[in-house]
Amino acid sequence: MKDLYEELKKSCSAVWEKLDFEPEIAIVLGSGLGGFAEEIEDAIALPYDQVPGLAACTVDTHVGQFIFGKLAGVRVAVMQGRIHYYEGYSVEQVVMPIRLLSMLGAEKLILTNAAGGINRKFIPGDLMLIRDHIASLIPSPLRGTNIEELGPRFPDMSEVYDATLREQIRKTAAEQGIELREGVYIQTPGPQYETPAEIRAYAALGVDAVGMSTAIEAIAARHMGMTICGISCITNMAAGIEAKKLSHEEVKQTAEKASENFEKLVRIAVDTMYEGR
Ligand code: HPA
Repeated sequence: MKDLYEELKKSCSAVWEKLDFEPEIAIVLGSGLGGFAEEIEDAIALPYDQVPGLAACTVDTHVGQFIFGKLAGVRVAVMQGRIHYYEGYSVEQVVMPIRLLSMLGAEKLILTNAAGGINRKFIPGDLMLIRDHIASLIPSPLRGTNIEELGPRFPDMSEVYDATLREQIRKTAAEQGIELREGVYIQTPGPQYETPAEIRAYAALGVDAVGMSTAIEAIAARHMGMTICGISCITNMAAGIEAKKLSHEEVKQTAEKASENFEKLVRIAVDTMYEGR
């Protein structure tokens, strides 16, 4: 097995050649949120494929670069697009950028994504704070020899998404008139959307939203002790809930329509995390 830690250290050194500050908060922008990166001041862009050890993005809604800079005075590292398991990369490759951002100094992480709504009270365009996740359908990013420098062999996962943060974000969102759902997210391997039978099974397991990212990133981040907030944009109702077929077009269109509130909520999450330093 390749020495992953050595590879990570090399990736880190390459980024340090372009970067002269330690990011405090890392933000992963999912489908439809890419425009948020334009709000970053003093931005330094660095495509993933220019960093040794990192894979390139192959999805049309994901640019595939880091933007390092400031957001309302906070030093941030933004991932404009992410790498997915369904692109053919290993789980280790998928979480490389997250591990890298933690090694660069980011102790906090905001994960965003587009997801299908399983909870029948949800409607497309809703925003959902992730309370917990199910990652059992996908290999663990921690499998293989444990890298002790990153974290323990058997990390606790009883509160992946920080409860205090969630509480504060909910409060601020309510003050600003942003309606917010909360629920359990399941990560499927993708890239095909689910069948109605799969969605019924996930509903029976207590799942509220389904997507093809995020949970394995959260696992790698918790392994390294990061504090995490997760936000899903419900872009469509999951398969079989409505009498229509799912499409990437619909996902993109709803994400675009919801982007204003989505961006406001990410800003609230950044402020909340910053104040809680
Ligand atoms: N399923 C899986 N991933 C998704 C969906 C969905 O319905 N919508 C957006 N991402």
